[in-house]
Amino acid sequence: MNRIAIVTGSDRGMGRETALALANNHHTVIMACIDIPEADRTCAEIKRLSGNNNVFVYKIDLASIASIKQFVFSFLRDFDHVNILINNAGIITMEYTITEDGFENIMAVNTIGPYLLTKLLAPHFPPGEDNRIINMSSWIYRFGRFSIDKMDKYHYVKAYSVSKYAQLLISLELADVLKEKGITVNAVNPGTVRTTIMRTNKRLYDLIINILMAPWYVDAKEGAKTCIYLATSGDVKNETGKFYRNSKPAAIPKWYNSRAMRKKLLRYYETLFGTETP
Ligand SMILES: NC(=O)c1ccc[n+]([C@@H]2O[C@H](COP(=O)([O-])OP(=O)(O)OC[C@H]3O[C@@H](n4cnc5c(N)ncnc54)[C@H](OP(=O)(O)O)[C@@H]3O)[C@@H](O)[C@H]2O)c1
Repeated sequence: MNRIAIVTGSDRGMGRETALALANNHHTVIMACIDIPEADRTCAEIKRLSGNNNVFVYKIDLASIASIKQFVFSFLRDFDHVNILINNAGIITMEYTITEDGFENIMAVNTIGPYLLTKLLAPHFPPGEDNRIINMSSWIYRFGRFSIDKMDKYHYVKAYSVSKYAQLLISLELADVLKEKGITVNAVNPGTVRTTIMRTNKRLYDLIINILMAPWYVDAKEGAKTCIYLATSGDVKNETGKFYRNSKPAAIPKWYNSRAMRKKLLRYYETLFGTETP
């Protein structure tokens, strides 16, 4: 069967590298992006570099429930299944903004939207196939302990950390929920990666961040390696419910991996989007 992979936020950064690697691996690649002109440019480049013409751009704004539903509708109009979903897109912005659906923007894009996308696509992974979901988390999850009733009321660095911790927790929980559907779910810590994600329009601030981060930075190609490994390697076909760093499972301290917290988070998402299992 034609292996179909959806990569959100694949017009730049690690998403682009992941989409290119999947195209090189002869997958059909769906670039789910917010900036269509940029995505079209990247798509043409990926086709040229990979020689794979089965690379397609679809619009998605993960801050908008309506846009996520429209994406799924458009995708399912053209394709009848998905094998790999990579929830890669992410943001960190200094401004506190509320989305059209009433969520804090960072939380909406980094975790609430990806949960909805996962839930809507889960029934379309073909039974008995090699099906994988990969969620981009971060080392910053350690600063992201949260209380459910304040989930989308945090500010900027804290909101980003909470969103990445939530991505880790929900990956672990969905790994259990989706096991019986034959879908693996893993989370990734890509390290500290020089991309545009931390760029603001404040030049001095950007310069200082770049100088401070320089000793740790790797480029997007290097940063994407673990995600690409999880998406393509036969070695991890049956691995699920793990957090990967440098293509190896990383330990999660016990106090960050509370079963009660995982369940609370899933219930929170279910109150937003319904209780039927994804
Ligand atoms: N860079 C790091 O050090 C680092 C570390 C740990 C984890 N991560 C995570 O890795 C993932 C990839 O980040 P990156 O560093 O490669 O950043 P990036 O180059 O800035 O890529 C982020 C992607 O997300 C897209 N995006 C932003 N808002 C969106 C929305 N509302 N709807 C749909 N797509 C949206 C961006 O689209 P446009 O730019 O076209 O708007 C872009 O394609 C993110 O989840 C990030 O949190 C990054």
